[in-house]
Amino acid sequence: MSAARFDDWDLPSSGGAAAPALAAQTTASAASPAPGTAGASLAAVNAADKRIVNGKTDINQLAPFKYPWAWEFFLKANRNHWTPLEIGMAQDVHDYSHKLSDAERHVFSNVLAYLTTSDIMAMRNIGLAVMEKMSAPELQIYQARQVYEEALHTWTYQHCIESIGLDQQEIYNRYRVVPEIHGKIRLASERLNRVLRSDIDLTNRDNLHEFALSYFFFAVIFEGCWFYNGFTPIFALQRRGLMKGTAEQLQYIMRDEVLHCAFGIRVVRELLKEENLTLDPAALRTLWDEAEAAETAYAGYILREPILGYNADLHVQQFRFIANRRARQVGVEEPFPGVEGALPWLDEQANLRKEKNFFETRVTEYQTGGALAWD
Ligand SMILES: [Fe+2]
Ligand SMILES: [Fe+2]
Repeated sequence: MSAARFDDWDLPSSGGAAAPALAAQTTASAASPAPGTAGASLAAVNAADKRIVNGKTDINQLAPFKYPWAWEFFLKANRNHWTPLEIGMAQDVHDYSHKLSDAERHVFSNVLAYLTTSDIMAMRNIGLAVMEKMSAPELQIYQARQVYEEALHTWTYQHCIESIGLDQQEIYNRYRVVPEIHGKIRLASERLNRVLRSDIDLTNRDNLHEFALSYFFFAVIFEGCWFYNGFTPIFALQRRGLMKGTAEQLQYIMRDEVLHCAFGIRVVRELLKEENLTLDPAALRTLWDEAEAAETAYAGYILREPILGYNADLHVQQFRFIANRRARQVGVEEPFPGVEGALPWLDEQANLRKEKNFFETRVTEYQTGGALAWD
């Protein structure tokens, strides 16, 4: 990190509006009263000086906001409360054993195996690699909520896996032993490991670009494409009246993920603008190509046999379609121009509104999701 740390708030200020270099702070500290004695004071924070990263204002001072949209995300996120225990799973237990075909059981169990590992990584990315590098508290607070939500999602998958009676030793190892699942996890893991350290100096432009690219990958591809599109095989079962408990759980998760993606895209846009940074088009092209190849292999595995209403080609086409949307939202070139949406029902599924809930799932009445702005 830069020499002047934004969280070095306990050293008396030398009086300037912007935080002084650490050496100057140390000098001032030596001449100041001992901690706890009267007379020590700090310069007031100017919210305009906050930055996404590399800021030097006081990380402990929430308001005034420089990024009021981040606080709005936090408030919106708090309107989507549930726990997996509130959704009945008894019918799913019966469906899994007596109604699903072998191909459908293969799809269902592998999607859960992939998703549960992914959510652990999403939690570690935000909580361990990203949050500490943010230098405005309103950003960290939403991300703290996101860390909780990723943990809640992990609990949700665990609840589904346990309720349905899947072999946990086997399911939780699939991302390691199945190459087509491992491919996606490995890509994410490599990206995460490049920024999973505290000593990255983000004032270095190469490091900053690496961090921005990693944030882009997780928000735009990992959450915005892979997650957004990752629930659809189970939604396809739900549309036929199967595995509706699991599908409803996933709908609640999807509401969170839509916000995670939208927040992440906003952060990336602001970061690029604030730092006058442009993502390298060749690096982006590589990201998209790697993501598409991993998704194609994954789709080919989970849907090695098509199921009624869903197949691997639809899955990959929808990935490309959503990727283009995310690229437009970030403000970069569409990676797969001209691709049409393959699943017109997906966005409606993502939005889960009571009045349009044609999937006949139970809707918890305390939800205030109608007030949420999606996507
Ligand atoms: Fe999640
Ligand atoms: Fe997420």
